[in-house]
Amino acid sequence: MAGIPESMVAIDPDGKGGPEILLPVRRAVPVPGPGQVLIRVAAAGVNRPDVAQRNGAYPPPPGAPSILGLEVAGDVVALGEGTLPEMLGQAVCALVAGGGYAEYAVADAGLCLPVPNTLSMVEAASIPETLFTVWSNVFERAYAAEGDRLLVHGGTSGIGTMAILLARIFQVETIVTAGSDEKCAAARGLGATHAINYRTQDFVAEVARITDGRGVDIVLDMVGGDYLPRNLDCLAEDGRHVSIAVLGGAKAEIPIWKIMQKRLTLTGSTLRPRGIAFKAAVADEIASVVWPHVEEGRLKPVIDATFPLAQAADAHRRMDEDHIGKIVLIVGDDGG
Ligand SMILES: NC(=O)c1ccc[n+]([C@@H]2O[C@H](COP(=O)([O-])OP(=O)(O)OC[C@H]3O[C@@H](n4cnc5c(N)ncnc54)[C@H](OP(=O)(O)O)[C@@H]3O)[C@@H](O)[C@H]2O)c1
Repeated sequence: MAGIPESMVAIDPDGKGGPEILLPVRRAVPVPGPGQVLIRVAAAGVNRPDVAQRNGAYPPPPGAPSILGLEVAGDVVALGEGTLPEMLGQAVCALVAGGGYAEYAVADAGLCLPVPNTLSMVEAASIPETLFTVWSNVFERAYAAEGDRLLVHGGTSGIGTMAILLARIFQVETIVTAGSDEKCAAARGLGATHAINYRTQDFVAEVARITDGRGVDIVLDMVGGDYLPRNLDCLAEDGRHVSIAVLGGAKAEIPIWKIMQKRLTLTGSTLRPRGIAFKAAVADEIASVVWPHVEEGRLKPVIDATFPLAQAADAHRRMDEDHIGKIVLIVGDDGG
């Protein structure tokens, strides 16, 4: 590929461990296959699944690069077979199944979205993983619609902040939980109608009080464990419960009669192992339904901190501290 080096800096740890294993190493620049493009990465988002991968708890799915990173933004610098010539030179952000913490990353053309001038590259890089996850779970699996009430745990996480921003655009009322008053204030500032500090308040009682006993239509849950029966108590009749992680425990005991009595739906998903066809269908829907709002500046992701690529270890240390919104790696001249 003309003008493109053969090797690059990447974060590709050998084995599992703490943040200290995230050292910059040299790897071959990937070659885009059919339907793929090569992106010169300007910024790469950091997500909790990256932390789980680093810990050895979430290995990359078969065929995915071992280099960390599920989302990037940058310029398209080479095209694989069957891609549109006009993509060359385009600024895009993309969902990738791995390989984001690097100077170059390969992405499926169908999973790229153009970066509008309302977003910086850092902001664009922080969007795909949380947007695809929240859209496919809250709006597709749980059928969120105008007027619905949504309870989101981890309200100031990358996922939680995206859920608040999207819900606001589509007139879904959001109640969130978070672990401090500062986080609750931040969540309300983003558009959450109510924020519950779960360390000082019982979220089940609070949800009942806020909704006059009716409950919420949807719970987006990343905690699992003993939250599950409590989440069911928060749901209104015909409510939908979506599990996306089990930060608080992978097993739960629930009263089955409550599912029957309130006609509840329990669902969930993991994005990374899903096939390209599914992800491309989500990307198409996002492009037509959500991206116009991004282009108009109505969806600005919340950036907690940025770090140079070479300091990916510090970025992961920050993930384990109280953060609000997204942590992003800056790649290239400033960071690589
Ligand atoms: N299923 C999928 O497809 C998918 C895709 C992307 C992400 N996820 C999952 O979604 C979750 C959020 O991801 P993210 O990147 O937004 O993470 P993040 O920014 O690091 O946020 C994690 C949040 O979880 C809350 N939390 C509650 N219980 C926790 C516990 N026991 N340990 C650590 N944090 C806890 C924390 O808030 P408080 O301190 O306020 O409680 C924190 O805000 C992660 O579990 C991730 O694996 C799932």
